[in-house]
Amino acid sequence: MAILITGGAGYIGSHTVKELLRHGHEPVVYDNLQTGHRKAVMNAPLIEGDLSDLERLEKTFRSFSIKAVIHFAADSLVGESMENPLKYFANNVKNSIQLLEAMVRFNVKKIVFSSSAAVYGEPKEVPITEEHPCRPTNPYGETKWIFEKALEALHRSGKIDFISLRYFNAAGADPEGELGEDHAPETHLVPICINSALDGRPVPIFGTNYDTPDGTCIRDYIHVTDLALAHLLALENLGHDGTAGVYNLGNGSGYSVKQVVGTVERVTGIKIATVESPPRPGDPARLVAGSARIRKALGWTPNYPEIERIVETAYRWHLNHPTGMG
Ligand SMILES: NC(=O)c1ccc[n+]([C@@H]2O[C@H](COP(=O)([O-])OP(=O)(O)OC[C@H]3O[C@@H](n4cnc5c(N)ncnc54)[C@H](O)[C@@H]3O)[C@@H](O)[C@H]2O)c1
Repeated sequence: MAILITGGAGYIGSHTVKELLRHGHEPVVYDNLQTGHRKAVMNAPLIEGDLSDLERLEKTFRSFSIKAVIHFAADSLVGESMENPLKYFANNVKNSIQLLEAMVRFNVKKIVFSSSAAVYGEPKEVPITEEHPCRPTNPYGETKWIFEKALEALHRSGKIDFISLRYFNAAGADPEGELGEDHAPETHLVPICINSALDGRPVPIFGTNYDTPDGTCIRDYIHVTDLALAHLLALENLGHDGTAGVYNLGNGSGYSVKQVVGTVERVTGIKIATVESPPRPGDPARLVAGSARIRKALGWTPNYPEIERIVETAYRWHLNHPTGMG
C-alpha cells in the first residue's frame, strides 16, 4: 500500500520512512527540500514538489495509487512564526488544506498528522493530558491547532479517519547511525549542545529564573525513532473503531535545560560553555506529556526513554556526519 509522506526528507519524516520500509510498507516522499535532505529518504521514491503545487500533488496521488498520508511538511520555527505569521498560515494551513482536498478527490481516507505540544500554550498543570485546553501562544501552535480542527470536521463528515500526534521535543538520531538531525538554523537544544561540545560555541540558556528546581525550563524529550514507531502504529490502527483523534507523544519525564547540558557533558566527556540569556516570550516553565492515551489505545511504548541514550545516539551521528545529512 503506497503511503504519501509529506516532508519525508526532514528529520522526523525520514526516520519514519526508514521505519515504514523496515516494516514492508511503501512510502512515497513528497518534499520541496526547503529544510529536508535528498539523501535522507534512502530507497523510497522522492517527488520533489511543494504542497502548493496542486497539479504535482494530484499527479503523485494518481501515479502511485496513494492509499494513506502521513503529513509532516510544515514550517516549524516558533520565533519565525511570530515575525512572519502569514508564512505559517499559508504553509501549515492553506497548503495543508489543499492536501486534504486532494485526499478527498482521490478518496484517500487515512491521515496521520504531525501536531505539536505548542497547541496547548501555557499549561495549567503538568503532565499535560489531551483534555488540557488548547490556547496556543504563537502562530506556529495556532496553525497546528487550526489544522487539527479541519481534520476533526472532515472526520465528522465521514470523509477521513485521522490521528493527530502532538509531539513534545523530538531528539536523538537513528540508532543504526544512518539518519540524524540536520536543521539550519538549529533551534533544538540537544543538537545545539552537541555542536557546542564540538566547536566550543556557548549554549544560550533562555531564562534562569523559572519556577523549576534549577531555574531553567523543563521539557519532555522523545527519541525520534520512538516517534517514528508511533506513526507506524497510528497508520496500522487507523480505521479501527474509536482510534481517530489526538494523542500526546512524550516520555512523561521532564529535563531542565541545565540537566540536558549536563547529560551532553557526561556523554561527550566535554565541558560545555553556556551563556545566560533573557527568557523567550511565551516559553512555558514546564512542558511534560501525559501519554497514557497512546500507550493504551495504540500499545505504544518507547524503546529509548532515557535521556542519556537519546543524547548518545545524536552524538554518535554528529561525530560520524560532520557535514550533516548533505
Ligand atoms: N522537531 C520537533 O521537535 C517537533 C515537535 C513538534 C512538532 N513537530 C512537527 O513535526 C513535523 C516534522 O518536523 P521536523 O523537525 O522533522 O521538521 P523538518 O523541517 O526537518 O521537516 C519538514 C519537512 O517538510 C518539508 N516541507 C516543508 N514545507 C513543505 C511544502 N510546502 N511542500 C513540501 N515539503 C515541505 C521540508 O523540506 C522538510 O523536509 C513538522 O510538522 C513539525 O511542525 C516537530
